[in-house]
Amino acid sequence: MDSVCVVFVTALILFFSTVVLIFYQNRFRLKSKSRNHQLPLGSMGWPFIGETADYVSSAYNVGPDAFMDKRRSMYGKVFKSHIFGSPTIVSMDAEVNRFVLQSDAAVFVPSYPKSVSELMGEFSILSINGSLHRRIHGLVGGFFKSHQLKSQITKEMQNYIQQSMANWSEDRPVFIQDVTKSIAFQLLVKALISLDPGDEMDLLRKHFQEFISGFISLPINLPGSKLYRSLQAKKKMIKLVQKIIQAKRDSGLSKVPKDVVDVLLNDASEHFTDKLIADNVIDMMIPGEDSVPVLVAIAIKYLSECPLALQQLTEENMKLKRLKDQQGEPLSWSDYMSLPFTQTVITETLRMGNIIMGVFRKAMKDVEIKGILIPKGWCVFTYFRSVHLDDSNYDHPYQFNPWRWQNKDMSSCSFTPFGGGLRLCPGLDLSRLEASIFLHHFVTQFRWSAEEDTIVNFPTVRMKRRMPIWIERVKD
Ligand code: HEM
Repeated sequence: MDSVCVVFVTALILFFSTVVLIFYQNRFRLKSKSRNHQLPLGSMGWPFIGETADYVSSAYNVGPDAFMDKRRSMYGKVFKSHIFGSPTIVSMDAEVNRFVLQSDAAVFVPSYPKSVSELMGEFSILSINGSLHRRIHGLVGGFFKSHQLKSQITKEMQNYIQQSMANWSEDRPVFIQDVTKSIAFQLLVKALISLDPGDEMDLLRKHFQEFISGFISLPINLPGSKLYRSLQAKKKMIKLVQKIIQAKRDSGLSKVPKDVVDVLLNDASEHFTDKLIADNVIDMMIPGEDSVPVLVAIAIKYLSECPLALQQLTEENMKLKRLKDQQGEPLSWSDYMSLPFTQTVITETLRMGNIIMGVFRKAMKDVEIKGILIPKGWCVFTYFRSVHLDDSNYDHPYQFNPWRWQNKDMSSCSFTPFGGGLRLCPGLDLSRLEASIFLHHFVTQFRWSAEEDTIVNFPTVRMKRRMPIWIERVKD
């Protein structure tokens, strides 16, 4: 028995010594590489876990900036680290970020935590690369930008908003993040599969909530685990979407596409399978579902703290409302988008709110940018948040100041709330349109006061208390 113990302990010691040896050999190899190719400064942290625990605990406790700011002051805007299981270059440098975003799949591909990539469809726009990605991105982006979809979204959103606002009570708080979430989901599902509100939509919403809850989970796919339940929910969603695709195939394709399924079914150059279409429709709900509600909720918070901006926004929208009432015409999507101050409020909210803090890419080969080496196989975390809150890019960056955008170029590489390059968010125009429509109806119909609420930045950005406000209807 004793000798078995000795063998076991010796094997254990040997195993750990080998692991530590490999870790330090790798570290040494990277150090010597760094001498030749300027791997940036930074710390790789502990064996295996690197600096993940540090990052996650400081992000949960004080917000993600603490980890980033500390390292920026020690190492500069670009530093090396080891987070989420991979050696990583973190970049808070706008030019480096632009280079990464603009590169194609031969240089960088998207990278996600294991639990997230397990949940993504094999053919989804979020995970594919190369020509198939370009084709799908182009088709979907073109449809989301089309006048026809914008007109449809505008009409539907006006209806959903009126229905929702009619139920708002002056006797209890309205939770802005919740009401906008419900509206945004209905619009998204309509744009993707033409499903109207009802039992099927409710079922889809229920499965979707179960599906996304698996994103922040351990990558363990066993019955009963969060990831397992999430995958089961996705299977049910796929079944529902495939039923819709089949019904469309049976009834003949519509010449003018009404939704993303039509767009993909109609494509003449590729014959997309039902699996590809279903993967894309479902995975597009991931970036599409939560982002606009959070954008609107954060805008309401900033406006409640900046009476001057709220006043100017209200005046601009009241002026348009009076004009349209006089003309007896409903507002079109271009009316909403042509309100200059409203647009600057949305832009400033995107800058300060940082709904997507940054994106991860994996290097497919050794890359050198501005004299910095990103070794093949490493990840890059392009951290937009720090760029947007950097005082060398924006004066008083923590101050909500929509007026700063009046004469400022939005296409600069210091402003990337929607990413950039081949993966620039195809929902960009729709997001701005939805936020503009909501703000218009909100400020022209209500006076309101906001309860205290704070923005939570980790693991995802949202309002801690879902942005409660008290309303009072404006008399005509
Ligand atoms: C405030 C709202 C939004 C923000 C801030 C936002 C931000 C982003 C960002 C930063 C990316 C780039 C990801 C990357 O480079 O890996 C992205 C991609 C994407 N977004 Fe959005 N998004 C928003 C709304 C929407 C909406 C409403 C949709 C509608 C479906 C949408 C659909 C997508 C899709 C499909 C991609 C993936 C594009 C690709 O990889 O080719 N987003 N979004």
